[in-house]
Amino acid sequence: MQAFRSSSRKAFKSYYQPFTLPKIIARTYAMPNQSIPPLNDPSLFKQNVAYVNGEWAKAKSGKTFEVHDPSTGKLIGTCPEFDKADTDNAIATAAAAFPSFRQTTARQRARMLHKWYQLMMDNQEDLAKLITWENGKPLADAKGEVAYAAGFFEWFSEEAPRADGDTIPASIPGNRVFTIKEPVGVCGLITPWNFPAAMITRKIGPAIAAGCTVVAKSPGETPFTSLALAELADRAGIPKGVVNVISALSNTAEVGEALTSSQRVRKVSFTGSTGVGKLLMKQSADTLKKLSFELGGNAPFIVFDDADLDIAVAGAIASKFRSSGQTCICANRIYIQEGIYDKFASAFAEKVKGFKVGGGYDEGVTHGPLIHDRAITKVDAHVRDAERKGGKVIVGGNKMPKLGTNFFEPTVITGMNMNMQLASEETFGPVAGLFPFETEKEVVDMANSAEVGLAGYFFSRDLQRCYRVAEALETGMVGVNTGLISDPAAPFGGVKLSGFGREGSKYGMSEYQITKMVTLGGMGQPLQGS
Ligand code: SIN
Repeated sequence: MQAFRSSSRKAFKSYYQPFTLPKIIARTYAMPNQSIPPLNDPSLFKQNVAYVNGEWAKAKSGKTFEVHDPSTGKLIGTCPEFDKADTDNAIATAAAAFPSFRQTTARQRARMLHKWYQLMMDNQEDLAKLITWENGKPLADAKGEVAYAAGFFEWFSEEAPRADGDTIPASIPGNRVFTIKEPVGVCGLITPWNFPAAMITRKIGPAIAAGCTVVAKSPGETPFTSLALAELADRAGIPKGVVNVISALSNTAEVGEALTSSQRVRKVSFTGSTGVGKLLMKQSADTLKKLSFELGGNAPFIVFDDADLDIAVAGAIASKFRSSGQTCICANRIYIQEGIYDKFASAFAEKVKGFKVGGGYDEGVTHGPLIHDRAITKVDAHVRDAERKGGKVIVGGNKMPKLGTNFFEPTVITGMNMNMQLASEETFGPVAGLFPFETEKEVVDMANSAEVGLAGYFFSRDLQRCYRVAEALETGMVGVNTGLISDPAAPFGGVKLSGFGREGSKYGMSEYQITKMVTLGGMGQPLQGS
């Protein structure tokens, strides 16, 4: 157990520090390896099936869709293309399982989640191989993701038994008021491809801890990790129908609508784009669902003149290039104060030149491909737009066709200005644009000019400034002197068009609960016979 704990700590650490740079200061490339290293447990790779009512099910239509390795473009396998009828069936299954699951004790649910957590860590290597295969991120990062993802099960296994209600002093004489935390009911969970394990566990963990049952729609690009997690749910003894994992690619909108419009689904949690979030919210209006949405970001990353340069550079590398820039909390607009701009730009560029881009299984590779060619098109457009408007590409800037269609050079651009596309749109790729600024007020105004507000970061050694700017940034999360803020113990979520609701932390469970109030009347009678 101790060994297990320390190996899990090691992987967790590697998640936070995945960017160990090779000694050479020259960008290197590695042709992607062509096939997945064999799984220790091949039964974790499920093809052509989804997980409904504790069984492996095909789509009623028999339709499937293909999933491709983003590094090589090769076929990984096929998955069932669920439609509305299949989704309604999964919802019915979750609804049937709810009455008895809600009666389980919090301690029973905690044990199930803890077992699931342990199974994930026991199978960390295989889960990581699946993540790298379908998402492309380097194996070390994928292992870190598994530890991060399992951490949500561990965290919520500990939160489940602490779902206390309150005893409240009533205003009305003789009344006694207390509250009970109850599970909200069947939950529809819709997750993205950028963290194939962590985004689904971050939602399922609190749902199960609260006593809810779920229908989780896996991402069309990365369904196999979710299916392996479903297999582990089965082994963890999660009762039939409590966790259902379904898949769709071209029917994604139809499945989303089935989840949001169903009267039986009482809560929807979604991670994805702001545009899709708005649509899902409209679709949920008729049934007045409880919602939590983690939507797009465009994180400001500010380095003040008084920052520690090395710490700021390391923070920017970690925040900007984690998962090749494909996270909602990646630094997008990097603002550097004029007094430190040139030094920062050259130290940062040197680090980026040390990256090794290639297939995620290959030794020494620090950065993998992007998820698909649409991502490449967007990244390329942002670079070309910045160049046209006066930006100077000092590292990278190009597609990497020799490696494959989904590779783009890690890129650094100086001389950025607020008229460039990158200033107002999330790039979701490995492009770091460095914007100069003069004053604190100016940079806070620029940072807050975005419509979205998920994460923000800044670097300073002035304590008063640290408080002031942390309070002034219009974001749901702020990293001060760090570029890595993800932690199952910390509340994750945004403001403005980045959505609402919090995931992880002690706040994460209330998203899956209702607070029921009970008033007992006639309780203030004097004791008899006194
Ligand atoms: C996201 O990109 O939405 C999640 C990133 C994280 O959990 O660190």
